[in-house]
Amino acid sequence: MLKFSLLHDKLTYMETDRMEKIVSLAKRRGFIFQGSEIYGGLAGTWDYGPLGVELKNNVKELWWDFFVHARGDIYGIDSAILMNRKVWEASGHVENFSDPMIDCKKCQSRFRADKIDINAACPECGAREFTSARAFNMMFKTYAGPVEDSAAEIFLRPETAQGSFSNFKNIIDSMRPKLPFGIAQIGKAFRNEITPGNFIFRTREFEQMEIEYFTAPGAWADAFDYWRGEMQKWMAMLGIASLVSEREIAEGERAHYSKRTVDFDFEFPFGREELYGLACRSDFDLKQHTMASGVELAYYDEAAKEKIVPFVVEPTFGVDRTVLALLAAHYSEEEDKKGGKRTVLKLPPQLAPYKVAIFPLVANKPQIVEKARDIYSSLKKNISTAWDDRGNIGKRYYAQDEIGTPWCVTVDYQTLEDNTVTVRDRDTAEQKRVATGELTHFFREELNRPTA
Ligand code: GAP
Repeated sequence: MLKFSLLHDKLTYMETDRMEKIVSLAKRRGFIFQGSEIYGGLAGTWDYGPLGVELKNNVKELWWDFFVHARGDIYGIDSAILMNRKVWEASGHVENFSDPMIDCKKCQSRFRADKIDINAACPECGAREFTSARAFNMMFKTYAGPVEDSAAEIFLRPETAQGSFSNFKNIIDSMRPKLPFGIAQIGKAFRNEITPGNFIFRTREFEQMEIEYFTAPGAWADAFDYWRGEMQKWMAMLGIASLVSEREIAEGERAHYSKRTVDFDFEFPFGREELYGLACRSDFDLKQHTMASGVELAYYDEAAKEKIVPFVVEPTFGVDRTVLALLAAHYSEEEDKKGGKRTVLKLPPQLAPYKVAIFPLVANKPQIVEKARDIYSSLKKNISTAWDDRGNIGKRYYAQDEIGTPWCVTVDYQTLEDNTVTVRDRDTAEQKRVATGELTHFFREELNRPTA
């Protein structure tokens, strides 16, 4: 049983203990807090703290570097969350973006029909009578402007993808891309999930990183295989590939727009669940928007001298699920050399909130503190660096291990003599002396080391 309550979120822990430790570390060390916590929370919402936002930003930056900057065929955009409601009518979300739900007739608790056995007892009150399944549209509604009538009703986007399709013509006209090419974006999405839960796994507000990759219609199957490989490379970079398995989604279970879908499932502490997805959306979205808007969304093929409507292959990544997968994959408890226990977050260095922590060996020796301060100020300009002068060195090491800081630098008496410091490695706990003038170069080299 969990010792703490996470609102109404349903927790289905198999490895309860491990998950509990991750959630507790995340709160205690400033990674992730319950949303609206001082008011008792708001189900399905979480806030990122100082370390969490660094980790999350590092994930997004690495993704953008790998999928946008390092290539020539992907165009990044940042489209509005609020869109004309006709977008969602054309995309099929108004009609189809729903989960089947059932209500307990006794306590009125609501569940996803595909996640609960209708013959089982209600997990809330134990009663055994449910309503029949009904479709529940998951888009959040709001109003644009001061009049709250149906004409002003709009939605918070449930996926970033539609902003990319809506800008297809703008990208063609402004960037003159050659097929195949992609549109990428990172941004918030909102879904009124019936049963949010399992910490940041299923929330009502989350972030996505998505690529809509446009190919000639006959080339989609090859593009699909190619993107499957690129997604595998990404997961290898994060050090999570060994915990991921791929699952072909059967026709009846795919989203309304999909011709083929492969899900990438991750071994979360609460079970194997979807981390990412890869789908072929065919020409569904471009054709739907052409029809509904009257604006032709097509590509002119110079060689063939004809217009074609490209097919779309879509690799999609949840940012928050990536953060959870990273915490779950890299959380480890080890015996230290003295037989004690240390908790280490073995994040790839590029993703760690702090890369380096600087310690003055003693807090009461002004020359040592001053020297350490100088190193801290200079490193901080280029590399995310923490300062710690509390407690003893051993405790400081353990505190940094727990938040995943790859290197700790101690300034000691020897530093005053020969200008070298101790650099201690998080994973091996090994120490070496490095000249202070070499530190920035040393860490840069380490950070550039490929992780996969
Ligand atoms: N554009 C396609 C699309 O949105 P999806 O499988 O519905 O596909 C894509 O969502 C990804 O977004 C998922 O693989 C997952 O990583 C993330 N995601 C979806 N719903 C989520 C939720 N309620 N909370 C957190 N992440 C979510």
